[in-house]
Amino acid sequence: MSIQQMVPGIYSVGSKDKHRLLFDQLMNLSEGTSYNAFLIKGSEKTALIDTVYPPCHAELVSKLKELGIEKLDYIVANHGEQDHTGALPELLMLFPQAKVVTNQKCVDITSEFLPIDKSRYQIVGEGDVLSLGDKTLQFMMMPWVHWPDTMFAWMKEERILFTTDFFGAHMTNYDLFWDGTDSVVPLAKAYYSEIMMPYARVWQKYLDKVEALNPAIIAPSHGPVYKEPKFIIDLYRKWVSQKENKMILLSVSMYGSTDAMADYLQKQVESKGIQVKRYDAVHLDVTGLANDLVDAKGIIVASPTVLTGPHPMVMEPLCLLNVLRPSVQYVGLIGSYSWGTQIAAQVMNLIPNLKNVPVLDPVLIKGYPKDTGFEALNRLAEQVAQKHQG
Ligand code: FEO
Repeated sequence: MSIQQMVPGIYSVGSKDKHRLLFDQLMNLSEGTSYNAFLIKGSEKTALIDTVYPPCHAELVSKLKELGIEKLDYIVANHGEQDHTGALPELLMLFPQAKVVTNQKCVDITSEFLPIDKSRYQIVGEGDVLSLGDKTLQFMMMPWVHWPDTMFAWMKEERILFTTDFFGAHMTNYDLFWDGTDSVVPLAKAYYSEIMMPYARVWQKYLDKVEALNPAIIAPSHGPVYKEPKFIIDLYRKWVSQKENKMILLSVSMYGSTDAMADYLQKQVESKGIQVKRYDAVHLDVTGLANDLVDAKGIIVASPTVLTGPHPMVMEPLCLLNVLRPSVQYVGLIGSYSWGTQIAAQVMNLIPNLKNVPVLDPVLIKGYPKDTGFEALNRLAEQVAQKHQG
């Protein structure tokens, strides 16, 4: 990734990590990811916004050298996660006068993970202004996008909002700016599903604050920079509030009885005009499931009873569901058992964060489904349809 000038005096100096396959050892990266860092040359001071993932540190240093940066006054840490702060210790050695400008929560976190002397921090709070001479940065505390330490930096002179992970995307096939196409949408949505969805109830009010600033540019710490911020703001508004006429069916079966139930339910639900996204819990597409959790109206789990509870292969996606906290409007359970079952209670115990989501009547059938079982599945499909009409 070469150095690119965002506007006069502000340069993109981060890295593209095209070979990274997984993020957080969880989400598949189809084209890797990027760690954006921005160098700001003011008339009096020079600041770097964010650093990079440690393996990309040498690339960042070489870009700073290429720009002739011999003295760095400030390194702004908008968020403490190490994909943006991991290179701080090396940079602080290289630039002994530099201060890490961040908030107290970020100090509390980074100082536990990274060898940074407390004297190197310069703490800022809501509304504080850092002058670089002809350019200024004003800080906005934005906790829970997606850690308690997250903050934005606003440069009023150029109307640029540096938003850390907010509005990010795991992408490398772009230059600097969003190219105006929809190719960013699935990658930004996948990013949103893991990083932003869990605290959507907290941060959705921030969208109004962002719009009120009327930024000319939104510069997140992953993926493209937006010169048309409305595009990504509108996507966030949609993802946080709108559902599609879509149901997720997560299934596993050992001898085919639960699959027969899932197949039948899928046909019944689809016959009512509802899209069913089926996920095989054994060969799980985690990223696909997370993406669909953003805008599916509900989820039905199809699992046989194994030793009184759910099949272990649905436990992991149920834990994922619990962590990602999608705003689904119902959950349901179907499955076959052999001699007895406590699956319903055990499934609910795995998703305590969804305790306020309505639970449809479980359909649990002894053995292979027969007439009464199919009738119960018909009733469940009706319940699903009613939820989708609401
Ligand atoms: Fe990209 Fe939360 O770090």
